[in-house]
Amino acid sequence: MTAFAALMLAAGAAQAADATLYEDLGGADAVARIAHGAIDRSVADPRIGHTFENSNVDRVKRLLTEQICDLTGGPCEYSGQTMEASHKGLALDTADFNALVENLQDAMDEEGVGFRTQNRLLAILAPMHRDVVTE
Ligand code: HEM
Repeated sequence: MTAFAALMLAAGAAQAADATLYEDLGGADAVARIAHGAIDRSVADPRIGHTFENSNVDRVKRLLTEQICDLTGGPCEYSGQTMEASHKGLALDTADFNALVENLQDAMDEEGVGFRTQNRLLAILAPMHRDVVTE
């Protein structure tokens, strides 16, 4: 096999792996329910609910849905602000971050997403800690 053919095969495999995470989460409707569920739980969460007080919660749900779809290989293009810009001024710390991740895990549990699939999504979101957490 030529080096080029090997490269194309590898690229195809990488793309298939990405598409599989979106599919493994359950596709468009499931991703929307997971994102909405994570935000509903966070708004109702006594640990972090107050951070959403002055926000357009419907917008956050729509953009989180779009972002997860985009990052997992779904047919979406994230159109929101950067993670740094949208969380600046919220004074979030690591405990806040962990609370939101917990709520996301609960939303995925409710959707019937398996542990390994959950961890694949969390591995993609974890590096955002550096842009979201400022305290
Ligand atoms: C990996 C972690 C996170 C992701 C992927 C994420 C994703 C997002 C997205 C996509 C938006 C919308 C951006 C826009 O308006 O253009 C947003 C906004 C927001 N997020 Fe997060 N977020 C994360 C962590 C957190 C945490 C830990 C909190 C609070 C505990 C939080 C609270 C908020 C709030 C309050 C807004 C609305 C800000 C505003 O009103 O402009 N987020 N987030």
